[in-house]
Amino acid sequence: MGKLIDGKKFADNLCNKIAEEVIKLKDKNITPGLAVVRVEGDPASAVYVNMKAKKTKEVGMHSVIKILDKNTSQDDLLKVVEELNNDKSINGILVQLPLPKQINADSVINTINPDKDVDGFHAINTGRLWTNIDSLVPCTPLGCKMLLLDELKDLTGKKAIIVGRSNIVGKPMASLLISENCTVTIAHSKTENLKDEVKKSDIVIAAVGVPEMIKGKWIKPGATVIDVGINRIERGGKQKLVGDVEFEEAKKVAGAITPVPGGVGPMTIACLLHNTLVATCKKNNKEIPKFF
Ligand code: GUN
Repeated sequence: MGKLIDGKKFADNLCNKIAEEVIKLKDKNITPGLAVVRVEGDPASAVYVNMKAKKTKEVGMHSVIKILDKNTSQDDLLKVVEELNNDKSINGILVQLPLPKQINADSVINTINPDKDVDGFHAINTGRLWTNIDSLVPCTPLGCKMLLLDELKDLTGKKAIIVGRSNIVGKPMASLLISENCTVTIAHSKTENLKDEVKKSDIVIAAVGVPEMIKGKWIKPGATVIDVGINRIERGGKQKLVGDVEFEEAKKVAGAITPVPGGVGPMTIACLLHNTLVATCKKNNKEIPKFF
């Protein structure tokens, strides 16, 4: 039976360490500030954004939420981003995705000052990540890397498969694992024989957004399984959250596995606060604390 990777506990620990660093910065009259922008229209986003703001305040940071009408134009959203770029009390800016159809998400992301881009989605940060230049790293893959390093200590030589090729998770995850000396496969909806690819892998990162798509019997015995999926399904007349991995079956063969909820989810917010702290330290020429 595989070990459960407790992402909630790891994230709580990380948030405590961040809060200690925030106290030290405040002693020097520096308060890290995070702004989250949400355009109305996606109900799940409202829940996520409120959770982000709550945690931001809990670690002692300054929190701003901007909620814009669902019919907001591209120009109006860009103006809000520009204002936050120029706001000295704000060190991190996150525009919650998805955005409504009238808005071009790429141009919004690339309008954020790269030094305040705590999502790490700006093309400059993407380029820095892939060329091993110090960058703000996308939160979910960063959280997955922290959990993997905590569990396995050294990833050198491991065969890793990432199922999903999104800009938010799959692609940056690949870069991070290459830097940790893994041999990386990125699989996606057109991959042939996904089962055989997964079976060969010591590390499985599931980030496809399809409930329980990765079957338990595909998992190599002893492998480490990181499930990024958060899917709301109905089972036995009840609403339930499940990941992209068939958890109960996978748990029987995996060496270690993240549950859903309580695995990767809490790490994403902790890493957002981590990135806000990093952006604040860089801006103020303060040493960046090492947490992992
Ligand atoms: N929507 C789902 N995940 C994310 C994320 O990590 N960042 C942003 N900005 N939006 C998201």
